[in-house]
Amino acid sequence: MAEKVSVGLIGCGVVGGGLVRALSRNGALMASRLGAQISVERIAVRDLSKNRDLPVEPAIFTTDWMSIATDPAIHLVVELVGGTDTAREMILTALRHGKSVITANKALICEYGEELFEEAEKNGVNLYYEASVAGGIPIIKALREGLIGNRVQRLYGILNGTCNYILTQMKNKGWDFDYALAEAQRLGYAEADPALDVDGHDTAHKAGILASLSYGFWVRPDQVHTEGIRGLDILDIQFAARMGYTFKLLAMVKPNLAAPVSQNGARPFSPVQVTVFPTLLPEDHVLANVNGVFNAVFVQGDVVGETLYYGPGAGADATASAVLSDLADAALDIKCDSAGRVPAFTPHEEDGEVQDIDSVVCPFYLRLQVMDRPGTMANIASILGDLNIGISSMFQPEGHEGDRVPLVLMIHDARHDAMREALKKIGQLDVVFGDPVMIRVEPFDPLPVLAD
Ligand code: NDP
Ligand code: HSE
Repeated sequence: MAEKVSVGLIGCGVVGGGLVRALSRNGALMASRLGAQISVERIAVRDLSKNRDLPVEPAIFTTDWMSIATDPAIHLVVELVGGTDTAREMILTALRHGKSVITANKALICEYGEELFEEAEKNGVNLYYEASVAGGIPIIKALREGLIGNRVQRLYGILNGTCNYILTQMKNKGWDFDYALAEAQRLGYAEADPALDVDGHDTAHKAGILASLSYGFWVRPDQVHTEGIRGLDILDIQFAARMGYTFKLLAMVKPNLAAPVSQNGARPFSPVQVTVFPTLLPEDHVLANVNGVFNAVFVQGDVVGETLYYGPGAGADATASAVLSDLADAALDIKCDSAGRVPAFTPHEEDGEVQDIDSVVCPFYLRLQVMDRPGTMANIASILGDLNIGISSMFQPEGHEGDRVPLVLMIHDARHDAMREALKKIGQLDVVFGDPVMIRVEPFDPLPVLAD
C-alpha cells in the first residue's frame, strides 16, 4: 500500500490549476513509481466564487492560507501565488511549522533564497524550486545533480517564454509588440505584472538562480545587469535578419576564463558575467532556432563539454510538470526521511563576485540615424578609432526618403565602458539624430584552450 503524502496547495490559478489537472491524470502512475500517493487535501485561493472547473471537491477550498501552512495534517505545502511579500510569509510560516515547501516563484527565490534555505535547514525540511526556472525543463536538477562533477565554463539561457513568444511572432508574423504581449497573457505565459517579463526582470531572476547554482555564491537580482525587449524596433529585427542574425532575450553566465592561474594552481572562476539583454545570435546557432514559448539552456561543463536543454518555458502544463517532479522528490524525501539529501543550495565559493558590466567585452550592432552627406561616416569612424573600437562591417540601406538615413555598423569586440563613451560622443554630432541603438552580439566563439 502506497504511503500517503498530504499536500496543501496555496494558489490555484494558471499553474495551480494545471497542477491539479496533471495530478488527477497521472497521480496513480506517480504513486506506482514512487510507492507514495500524493494527495492534494486543501487549496487556498483569494476568491472562492471563481469557477475553476477542477477535478477536486469544492469543500477543500479556503481563503485562509494560514490554516494550511500550520495544519499538522499537511506534510507538504506548494506555493503557487507569486509576488515576494505574502508569498514569503506563506513559505516561512510553512517551513517554521516543519513542512517542506515547493515553489515556482523565481522572484522570491532570487531575492530571498538565502533566507528561505536557511529557514528550511533550521527546521529540518527542504525547499524545492524546479519550476522557478525554464518551465518544464528540469534544469535545476541537471545543474545540481546531473552536472555535479563539472565546473560550468559558460551558460546561456532563453529563459522567458513570454519574451521569446513575442520576439518570434514579431519576426515571423509581423505582429506588433502590444498584440503579441496580449496573446502571451491570454495563453497564461506572462506574469501577473507583465513588465517583469518584457523588461527582463523575470529572466534576471532565473539567471541569478542558475548563476548561483553554477558558481556557489548567491547572485541577487540587483547584481544582474538587465535590459528587456520593450521598445525594440521592428527595423532592427529586419536589418539583423538581413545580416544573418536573430534577436533573443539572452541570459549569459560566464566566468572570467582568461584570468591568470593563481600561485596554488587554481583557476579563479570569478568574477562571473551575469547579464540579461536582447542579443543578436547567428541564425544558424541552435539557440537562434528556439521559438515561441520554448526555452533553452546551453551549459558547457569542463568534463562533459556542450549540453543543451530544451522545452516549453511557461504555461500551465509545462510548469505543472516541473512541480510534479518536485512533488516526487519531496514525497520520496518524506518516505525515506531524507529531507536534506539534495540541499536547496550549497554555498561553496566564498570569494565569488559578479563582473561589473563596464568590463564586459563583446561585439556590438549599432544603428544610427544620420545626415546623408559626405564626411558623416568619417566623423563617426574617427570617434570609434580614438577609443580603439574597430568596425567589422557597415551598411546604409537604400530606399529611405529625405536626407536622414539609417546607418548600421557592426563593431568588433569592445568593452562596455568604451562603447558608452563612444555613443555619448557620436550622439553629440550634429549629423546624428535621435538616440543610437546599441545591441550586443553573441558569436558563440569556441572557448580558449587553457593550460591546466
Ligand atoms: P495566477 O495569478 O494565475 O495564480 C495566482 C493564484 O494565487 C490564484 O489562484 C490566486 O487566487 C491565488 N492567490 C493570490 N493571493 C492569494 C492569497 N492571499 N491567498 C491565497 N491565494 C492567493 O499566477 P500563476 O499561476 O501564473 O503563477 C503562480 C506562480 O508561478 C508565480 O510565482 C509565477 O511566477 C510562477 N510561474 C508561472 C508560470 C506561468 O507560466 N504562468 C511559469 C513558471 C512559474 P484566485 O484564483 O482566487 O485569484
Ligand atoms: N512569465 C514567465 C515566462 C513564466 O513567460 O517565462 C515562466 O517562468
